[in-house]
Amino acid sequence: MSELKKRLLSILESPKHNTEEKLEKVCHLLDQEISYFNWTGFYFKNGDKDELKLGPYVGAPTDHTIIPYGKGICGQVAVSNETFVVPDVNEESNYLSCSIDTKAEIVVPIFKDGKNIGQIDIDSHTIDPFTEEDKELLEWLCNEVSKIL
Ligand code: SME
Repeated sequence: MSELKKRLLSILESPKHNTEEKLEKVCHLLDQEISYFNWTGFYFKNGDKDELKLGPYVGAPTDHTIIPYGKGICGQVAVSNETFVVPDVNEESNYLSCSIDTKAEIVVPIFKDGKNIGQIDIDSHTIDPFTEEDKELLEWLCNEVSKIL
């Protein structure tokens, strides 16, 4: 297991922090360790509503604190149940802009008991920065996060 995965696990398994604090620390660690991760945050299903609500994040404040299912990259992942890698956000018509600096985005769903209950969302200021390794890391992370929810 990579050093970064070990550090992420130790945050998630720490008895000293609540879930909110753990997710915030996870965002901070990813932001710190991966230079092209420029906004890192979680969205979760908002109760019974078909919409996402912003959770812990690191980066510039966003207007998109609530995202209806189907809208933007995040809303599409809420219904597709699949990781969405966007190498260049200018190529996407169904996209919600948070910052003019954002060039690329990756959104990975989080499943609990087989249900899509949220996601991790990363924005980058670099075009096409995300690797297969990033995708694998984030999918692994979402699986680990699901265990503490
Ligand atoms: N760009 C996202 C909205 C969330 S912000 O990136 C923080 C989208 O299109 O769903």
